[in-house]
Amino acid sequence: MAQLHVLDDLGLSITGLASKYPSHSITTASLERIGARHYPDSPLTKKLLALNDSSGILSRPSVHDPDDQLINQDRAPSISEVHQRFLERGVPLAIEAAQSAITEAQTSPSYITHMVSVTCTDSANPGYDHYVGRGLGVPNSVEKVLLHGVGCSGGLAALRMAANLALGHARRGKPARVLVVALEVNSTLVRSEMDSMSQLGELRIGLALFSDGAGALVLSNSIDESTRPVYSLLGWQHRIIPDTEDDLGFNVDPLGKDENILAHPNCARKLNEMLGWKVVLSRRIPELTKSALQPMFSSLLENTPCFSSQHASACDFDWAIHPGGAAVLASIQEALAIPGDEMRASYDTYREHGNSSSAAIFTVLDRLRSKERIDDTQNGKRKVYTVACAFGPGVAVEMCMLKRSDSHSEL
Ligand SMILES: CC(C)(COP(=O)(O)OP(=O)(O)OC[C@H]1O[C@@H](n2cnc3c(N)ncnc32)[C@H](O)[C@@H]1OP(=O)(O)O)[C@@H](O)C(=O)NCCC(=O)NCCS
Repeated sequence: MAQLHVLDDLGLSITGLASKYPSHSITTASLERIGARHYPDSPLTKKLLALNDSSGILSRPSVHDPDDQLINQDRAPSISEVHQRFLERGVPLAIEAAQSAITEAQTSPSYITHMVSVTCTDSANPGYDHYVGRGLGVPNSVEKVLLHGVGCSGGLAALRMAANLALGHARRGKPARVLVVALEVNSTLVRSEMDSMSQLGELRIGLALFSDGAGALVLSNSIDESTRPVYSLLGWQHRIIPDTEDDLGFNVDPLGKDENILAHPNCARKLNEMLGWKVVLSRRIPELTKSALQPMFSSLLENTPCFSSQHASACDFDWAIHPGGAAVLASIQEALAIPGDEMRASYDTYREHGNSSSAAIFTVLDRLRSKERIDDTQNGKRKVYTVACAFGPGVAVEMCMLKRSDSHSEL
C-alpha cells in the first residue's frame, strides 16, 4: 500500500477528457462514387471497395460530404488546399473537444498553463494549435508545443510530453493545467491515395481505415487542484522497434515514384497536382505490434512496482489500444492472451469511428470510463487499472498506466 502512494504521488491526473467527430461519413458507396467519377474501373478498385466492407468499420467520420468540390476536382487537393480545409473544418472540432475537456476539468481557458497538441495531417507554421488556443481564449503566455512525426501514437506521445511538463512545474511548486489536443483530418487524402492506387497499381489500405476526429484532455499536476480525476497517470514507456522505420509512415510526397517529373515542362503544375499525403503501412505491422506488446507491458509493470504481485497478468487490466486496424487489434489480443471483451472499448471505437490516428485513443479512454464502466460495474468486474497503448512511425510504441478514479467507478 505504501508503494501505491509513491506512485500516486506523481500527482498527475486527467481531470477532463473528450472527443469529437464530424457529421459526414466515408462509406463504401461514397468511395465507389468518387472512384467512378475520377478513375477507370479496375480490379484494384473493386478490391478496395471489398476491403471497405470487410474491414469491420461501420462508420468513418469525415469533414467532407462525398460530393464536396475539394475532393471532386480534376486532381487531388494540393497541400495548401488540404491545410485550408484543416483550419476551416478541423480546428472548430478541436476547439469543441478542448472546451468540453476544460469544462469537465472545472477550470477555464485562462487557467491553462501549457498546450501540447499533435497532428500528422497538417503541416504549417504557425501550427494549428495557435488557432485552437486563440479560439479557446487561452492566455498568450501559455507554453505551447506542437508534436509532429508521431502519427497514430501521437495522442499518447502528447500525454507523455504533457506529463513531463506538468512534473517540471510541480518541481517549481507551480500549478500546471496542461491542455492536450489531437486533431486529424485524414479524409482529404482520399484522392491522393486513389491517385497512388491508379498510378502504382497497389492496394492502399489506408483508404479503408482512416477517419477524421479530435480529442482533448486536461492533465493537472494536482497543485491547487480540487477536481476529482477521471484517471490518474502512474507511468509511461516509449520505445522504438529497431529497423522498422520503413514500415509505417505518413508523408507529404509530391513525387511518388515518378522521378521524371522534375524534367517535365510543366513541372510546377504537375507537382501541384500530385501533392498529397501518402500512407505507408507495411504488411508486417500486425506482427510487429504483436511481438512488441508483452516486452513493453513487462517493462511498464517493472517501472510501476505496486503491480508486481497483485496485478501481474494482462487480465488484471483494462486495455485501451489504439484502433489501428482489425488485424492489429487481433494480433494484440493474441499477444496478451485476453478475451476480446477486455479490449471492448478499442473494438467498439474501431467499429463505430475507424482509425482517426492520434485522436482515436481519447475516444477509447472516454468509452472505458463511461459506458464500459457502467456495464462492468453491473457485471461485478470493476477494474481499477487501465493500460493504454498506441503505435506510430518509427515504429514507435507508446504505453502508459492509468488508474481510474473511484468516483467514476461508482457510476
Ligand atoms: C486493413 C484490414 C482491416 C483489412 O482486413 P481484412 O478485411 O480482414 O482483410 P485482410 O487482412 O485479409 O487483407 C485483405 C487484402 O489486403 C491486403 N493487405 C493487407 N495488409 C496490407 C498492406 N499493409 N498493404 C497492402 N495490402 C495489404 C491483403 O494481402 C489482402 O489482399 P489479398 O486478398 O490479395 O491477399 C487489416 O488487414 C488490417 O487491420 N491491417 C493492418 C492495418 C495497419 O497496419 N494499421 C496500423 C495503423 S496505426
